[in-house]
Amino acid sequence: MIQTSVLEIPASYLFSDIGKQVAAYQASHPDKRVIRMGIGDVTRPLPRVCIDALHKATDEMASADTLRGYGPDQGYEFLRDAIARNEYQSRGATIYPDEIFVSDGAKSDSANIQELFDVDSIVGVTDPVYPVYVDSNAMAGRLGHYLNGDWTRLVTFPCTEENGFVASPPRKEVSLIYLCFPNNPTGATASASQLKAWVDYALDHRAVILYDAAYRAYITNPDIPRSIYEIEGARECAIEFGSFSKTAGFTGLRCSWTVVPKDLRIDNASLHALWARRQATKFNGTPYIVQRAAEAIYTEEGKAQVERVIGYYMENAARIRGALEALGLTASGGVNAPYVWLKCPDDQSSWAFFDRLLNEAQVIGTPGSGFGACGEGYFRLTAFGSHEDTIEAMDRLRKIL
Ligand code: MLT
Repeated sequence: MIQTSVLEIPASYLFSDIGKQVAAYQASHPDKRVIRMGIGDVTRPLPRVCIDALHKATDEMASADTLRGYGPDQGYEFLRDAIARNEYQSRGATIYPDEIFVSDGAKSDSANIQELFDVDSIVGVTDPVYPVYVDSNAMAGRLGHYLNGDWTRLVTFPCTEENGFVASPPRKEVSLIYLCFPNNPTGATASASQLKAWVDYALDHRAVILYDAAYRAYITNPDIPRSIYEIEGARECAIEFGSFSKTAGFTGLRCSWTVVPKDLRIDNASLHALWARRQATKFNGTPYIVQRAAEAIYTEEGKAQVERVIGYYMENAARIRGALEALGLTASGGVNAPYVWLKCPDDQSSWAFFDRLLNEAQVIGTPGSGFGACGEGYFRLTAFGSHEDTIEAMDRLRKIL
């Protein structure tokens, strides 16, 4: 009755596992204040423009004349227009509002998109990788068996210090390629020429790139692409996920989008039409009030407020990276990305370092090995805390290292 690969998936999702360990520690040490730099969850309040838009839209729901029931399948046009103009057209990328599907999370869309593809498709992911891409394909029965910590049909692209944590396209044949830039977990970014190599590979091999750009708002260097569609040819081979979670603090509100260009055809089928069909069947839309809140970040005021929040987190990122480097540790990321990726000191394993930080400093991070074999010996810290907590966490690290 139950699919074998579902039974074979490691029992716990990485962040649930960490959450349980921290809860157990906190229960047995109620006097200790734990500082959380593990899961990438935001701590700053929503931008004021979003709160005002939420209030206004909520009031509309209080009157029969302005009540909104089920929304359009792909999301309200006001939001799709704003996304197309501000995230793509303003950067010279050709994406039209009707190619955008508003949703409730880049996590759910990047997990669900695989439903469009054949169970025999060969999946390729970077290592380390956001675990959702792997687990969702494993659940669909596409990755073979889980033996000695590896899926037998999964292709991985190692991201190491040597390649600056940005892999090049493989020699092997892969048909579904997951890329995430700025990268979760390493914080690495990809240049236009690095992305072009992936687009060329996908076009040559009739592969599809599933591009997770959830952290795009953290790119301040104008030479680094924020979207795969800034690369020529991407409209014919790439689907992109964007999110309001890390941009505007929507982790609890939930709003995201997926772009499926109409030029993207595989086996003569339009992936846009197939995704529209899938969403219409399985998803009933992001709440109207939330879509209004998302739209508000594209006003002049909204843009300024978002920039301030991102600037706040990036101050943390610089502080974390600076503190780690001052301790003589090898650290990367934290520039154009909210994650800092560090090499555990004294050749400690990722989980040993996790335990040490938790027990000796009460600081939570994410063990690199939870993101894949190449993450072993590494550790991820997030910049999403308050300034006060980030400063204190770095002081605590200084004391124990
Ligand atoms: C993370 O910490 O990797 C992310 O917050 C997880 C997510 O966005 O789902």
